[in-house]
Amino acid sequence: MVSRVIPVSPFDLVIFGATGDLSRRKILPALFRRMRAGQMPENSRIIGAARTKMDSAGFRDFVRESMAEFEPTAKDTPEVLETFIAALEYTPIDAMGDAGWKPLKKLIRKDTVQAFYLSVGPSLFGEIAHRLHVHGIATPESRIVVEKPLGHDLASAKDLNKRLGECFEEHQIYRIDHYLGKETVQNLMAIRFANALFEPLWNSKYVDHVQITVAESIGVEGRGGYYDKSGALRDMVQNHMMQLLCLTAMEPPAKFNADFVRDEKLKVIRALDPLKVSDTVRGQYRAGGGEASYIEHAENPDSHTESFVALKVNISNWRWAGTPFYLRTGKRLRARMSEIAVVFKDPPHSIFEESNHRKGNTLIIRLQPDEGITLRMTIKEPGPGGMRLTEVPLDMSFADALGPDAIVTDAYERLIMDVIRGDQTLFMRGDEVEEAWAWIDPLIAAWEADSSKPAPYDAGSSGPEDALALLHRDGRRWREIDV
Ligand code: BG6
Repeated sequence: MVSRVIPVSPFDLVIFGATGDLSRRKILPALFRRMRAGQMPENSRIIGAARTKMDSAGFRDFVRESMAEFEPTAKDTPEVLETFIAALEYTPIDAMGDAGWKPLKKLIRKDTVQAFYLSVGPSLFGEIAHRLHVHGIATPESRIVVEKPLGHDLASAKDLNKRLGECFEEHQIYRIDHYLGKETVQNLMAIRFANALFEPLWNSKYVDHVQITVAESIGVEGRGGYYDKSGALRDMVQNHMMQLLCLTAMEPPAKFNADFVRDEKLKVIRALDPLKVSDTVRGQYRAGGGEASYIEHAENPDSHTESFVALKVNISNWRWAGTPFYLRTGKRLRARMSEIAVVFKDPPHSIFEESNHRKGNTLIIRLQPDEGITLRMTIKEPGPGGMRLTEVPLDMSFADALGPDAIVTDAYERLIMDVIRGDQTLFMRGDEVEEAWAWIDPLIAAWEADSSKPAPYDAGSSGPEDALALLHRDGRRWREIDV
C-alpha cells in the first residue's frame, strides 16, 4: 500500500533562520520529500530569511549543498531536486531591527497561503511576530509556526503566549511538538477511537497501570550548553511525554478536530495530581561501556542536571483513579525505544491451576523503532500433557502490514503540510502548554532546592536503580528497554 497524497493549496512558506541547523536537517528535507511525493503545488515557494547576507542564487547553492549532506537520496531524483531548488527564494533580514522587512513584504504574495516558520531561538519569537505585524506583512489568515522551548516555566510560557497573542489569533499559531507528528502517536487515536475493542477496557477497572517509555541511546554531546540548562524534565517530559500521556488517557473527543482533541487533552492535565517528590526519580549517566559520562559534555563540571526522569503519575478522574501511569525517559540508555504499554489486570478468577497462572494482557504501542502494535496474550502451550499456559505476542509492524512506503517516518513532513492545510489538531494550544508548565514547575522548584545529586546510572544501562524501585514498591516492574 502506498500512502495517499492529499493535495494542499499553493503557499509561500517563509523560514526564519533558514540557514540554521533545524532548517537544514529537518525542514528543508521534509519539504523536498513532500515535493517528491507530489504534494507540493507547482507555484509554491520557500523563502529563506536569515541574518546572512546573500541573494536567492546563493541560497539555492547553499540548499543544494545542505541537501547533499542531510537528504542524500535527493540526487536520485535530479529533476525533483531542481524543481525544489527553483522554488527557493531568499531575503536577508534583521530580526531585531528594521532592515529587510520591506523587501520581505514585497516578496510575499497576498493571494496564497502564507506561513512563517520561526526556526530561530525562542528569544526571537516575540520580536519576529511583532515585526511581521507592524510591517503589515502578516494577514489575518497567515500562520506562524514555533517550536519548543516554549518557555522554561509557567511565567515565561505565559509571556510568550501573550507576545504571540498580541500579533496573531490562536487559530493562526502552530506550536510544534514533533512527537504529535509521529505516525504511531496518531495511530494511538485511531486504535482507541476507530475500534470498539479497546475502549470499553480502557479504564481503571481493567487497566492495572500504564508505562510510557521514551528511551534514547544517544547522549547530550554537542548540545551540552542547551541541555545543561534544560534537563530531561523540561526537554522531554513537559512536552513530548505529556502529549503521550494525554492522548493515552483522554476521553474520546466528540469529533476529530483541533479544539475538540485539545480540550480533552487539557482536561487530562488538569486532572493530574500534584507530583510528590517521593514519586519521582532523577538520574544522570556516568561513563559506561566505553561511553563518556554526562559531566564530560556538560558546561558545569558539578552539574546536577538530570539526563533521566521517572515519574509515577496519578490522574484523579472517574476513568483513571487508582491506575498509575509510570513515565520514564532518558539519554544514553541501553537502546532507542519508545513505547506506550497498557498493562491490563489479571482475569478476575483463574480456572487453571495456580502453577499455570499467567499475568494479564499487555497492549504495547511502539513509537520507534519499527512502529507497530503488540498484544501479549496467554494461550495454551501446544502439545499433550495437560493445560499449560504460555504468553505469546500478537504482533503487527505497520511496515509489514502496510508496506514500507506507507510509513511517512518524519514528523516534520506531516506537520508542515498540516500548517499549510490549516489543521491545528496535531499542534499544542497555548493553554495546554501553560497547564503543563503549571504542573511541572513545582517539581522543578523542589529539585532545584534539593542539593543532592541525581541518581547515577551507567551509560548503556536501563537507568538508575531508584527507577526500578519506584515500580518494585508497587509490586510492578518496568518492561525491558530493548529493540
Ligand atoms: C527533542 C529533544 O525535542 O526530542 C531531544 O530536545 C531529543 O533531546 C529528541 O533527543 C527526541 O526526538 P526523537 O524524535 O528522536 O525521539
